[in-house]
Amino acid sequence: MSLALESSTRAGAKDAFDTLMDEHRLIEQVLGALDAFTKHLEQGADPFPLREFAEFFRGYADKVHHGKEEDILFASLVARGYSTEAGPVAVMLYDHAQGRALVSALAAAGDAGDCLDAQGREQTVRAARRYASLLRHHIYKEDTILFPMARGGLSPSDLRRLDREFAAFEQAKVSASLRQLGLSLIEDFPPTPPETDASDPIGDGCDLHCTLAGCPVRNPWDEPIFPES
Ligand SMILES: [Fe+2]
Repeated sequence: MSLALESSTRAGAKDAFDTLMDEHRLIEQVLGALDAFTKHLEQGADPFPLREFAEFFRGYADKVHHGKEEDILFASLVARGYSTEAGPVAVMLYDHAQGRALVSALAAAGDAGDCLDAQGREQTVRAARRYASLLRHHIYKEDTILFPMARGGLSPSDLRRLDREFAAFEQAKVSASLRQLGLSLIEDFPPTPPETDASDPIGDGCDLHCTLAGCPVRNPWDEPIFPES
């Protein structure tokens, strides 16, 4: 299977941000597989594969990928003066927490299997679409705003330390098996375009904090990424 999973278009060696963006590309492909499976689920398919989707999103998207962000990158930003209560880091942490709750709903539906009733199926379809939308917006904000700003604001020694800490964080065997699980899901459920909602300006049905409705963190990008520099 040939997939465009690497995002770097910059010349030279990859840095920690390229690593994170490469991980985004795989996560996006598996979100496409989740979109495809969600359509099957809506039409009455067995919810069991949601257990594998949940395993991938918990293991790879959250533990491996968000783990690097939270424990290493965001910690570096906080050390440079950024808040975990407001602004970009707070929004990213809020996204991660929302995602964990939605993945738990998907896992529970997968565990329920044949016992999932019609209402549960409907709620699960909504949770799956909400999760896909949440994560796509989250990735968009990181790729286009947070990462470029952070890459430009961190010192060369900070960037080298990020590379070292990412390498130490990576549990190669776990990451490789989770990556393989993601590729299997993509093969089993070839990605399809997400369901669209004409009332959403971005077009994928998101009604989360990208519109600032219901978000505890207002105007997340108004502050400079490095307020004290
Ligand atoms: Fe990310």
